[in-house]
Amino acid sequence: MEVVVAQSDVTAIEVDVLVVNLFEGVTKPGGATGAVDSALGGVITELIADGEITGSASELTLIHTPNNAYPNFSPSRVLVVGLGSSDSFDTDGIRRVSASVIRKLRSSGVKHAATIVHGAGIGGLETSSATQATVEGSLLGSYRFLKYRTTDKKRKPDVGKLTIVEADSAKIDEIKTGIERGVAYSQAEILARNLVNEPANKLAPADLAATAQSVANENGLDCIVLEEADVTKLGMGAYVGVSQGGPRPLKFIHMTYAGDSANSENNLWLIGKGITFDSGGISIKPGAGMGKMKGDMGGGASVIAAIQAIAQLKPKLNVHVVCAATDNMPGGSAQRPGDVVTAMNGMTIEVDNTDAEGRLTLADAIGYAKSKGAERIVDVATLTGAARVALGDGVSPLFGNDEELVSSVLETSSKVGEPMWRLPLDSVTKRQNASKIADLKNTGGRGGGSTTAAHFIADFAGDTPWVHIDVAATSMLDSTRGWMPAGATGVPTRSLIELAMSLGG
Ligand code: BES
Ligand code: MN
Ligand code: ZN
Repeated sequence: MEVVVAQSDVTAIEVDVLVVNLFEGVTKPGGATGAVDSALGGVITELIADGEITGSASELTLIHTPNNAYPNFSPSRVLVVGLGSSDSFDTDGIRRVSASVIRKLRSSGVKHAATIVHGAGIGGLETSSATQATVEGSLLGSYRFLKYRTTDKKRKPDVGKLTIVEADSAKIDEIKTGIERGVAYSQAEILARNLVNEPANKLAPADLAATAQSVANENGLDCIVLEEADVTKLGMGAYVGVSQGGPRPLKFIHMTYAGDSANSENNLWLIGKGITFDSGGISIKPGAGMGKMKGDMGGGASVIAAIQAIAQLKPKLNVHVVCAATDNMPGGSAQRPGDVVTAMNGMTIEVDNTDAEGRLTLADAIGYAKSKGAERIVDVATLTGAARVALGDGVSPLFGNDEELVSSVLETSSKVGEPMWRLPLDSVTKRQNASKIADLKNTGGRGGGSTTAAHFIADFAGDTPWVHIDVAATSMLDSTRGWMPAGATGVPTRSLIELAMSLGG
């Protein structure tokens, strides 16, 4: 879908559908909705009085306005969307409403729609961020993964063009900024979704590396890919141990955006778990639901996707992306429970359970980042089933060792509508990772599964400022929620972009 701005009176724009809005409880619409109401002889006011339009959140009312009946009104139809209560309205509300609207437009066969920016009038939100949220809701809300659906002939095509219409010339520049950001953020999140939705037989570590390489080529980034021999030489025994159970070669991906090359220490390292399929290894998973483990590279997908938008929006800091990609398979040469491996930083790990593989790969990815001078690390991982037990699938557990970085991530995540909640790294759960034979074991036993996993990673982050986001529950959904479709959500791609924008702003 193409998104453009037009400086025009709403009544004069030639489109299939014009989208306007209404807060709950408003009996006489103002602004653009008021202008439409007047041009249509008060039909919206009348529908409010009749009780058909109430303004409740995502209420959709389509009014047909054929040209012969309304010669001075250009749009063929008007869609009035309810915004809900004006006190609680925020950019999440905009994304939610825009997603409902775009799906309604698609199901009505609309090719070209125009919309006002939701929330910028009496909603009181800044024009550029309200525009960005309108664009994000529209692009993310209309997402479908149709690549492997070849026989459905009746499917409605996507809306081809969305025009953001604004009469006030003073707001056009802000709207352009909002569109540019909304498009970049959404395209990145969609890339992450596509990678997560891709079946494991179509996405080996080499395919993830090829995607990273093409993102780099298209956006002027550096990208290096280390092979098994390279990472073995670097001492990444924990990572190599995970990969040895399957035939598809590991790929260690390192992408760089140099936004402040004069100050190499002004850096942010984004590390994503990149398990292209997690069978559990020898500690094999039960069959039911195992197919979802094609998405165990969701963290890696989100960091690769985020750096694409970062390269386009150019914040002033250096961003590095690392993804230690591999399958976790139970082949004859697989590592066994009880094995001891040595990580890049020299620490030894007892592999108590081969299904706790993510933390093993992250240990070496972090070791690498630290060896290259990482000043701040954010890792993203579909790490523990316990994340869902703790917080459900609407909020990602977050852990960290640095108050400032933790606050920055929490702030940016709530701004973009990807909720996170900090859990403690307490000393009691930390002891659960103690091994009798090695420095650490990769499981923490009963209780606090997300926390013991985080403690494990914390030991490799050491004193480098670090945040860990567990997206095991939030990376994929069973059913559509607002702008997030069933399947991959792309979370937390937009949080990472926003973080880089705020750190390098
Ligand atoms: N990839 C899984 C975690 C996961 C579970 C992600 C469900 C998405 C949905 C991870 O590698 C794993 O298997 N974790 C184990 C750890 C345990 C063996 C200590 C888990 O959570 O059960
Ligand atoms: Mn696992
Ligand atoms: Zn896993």
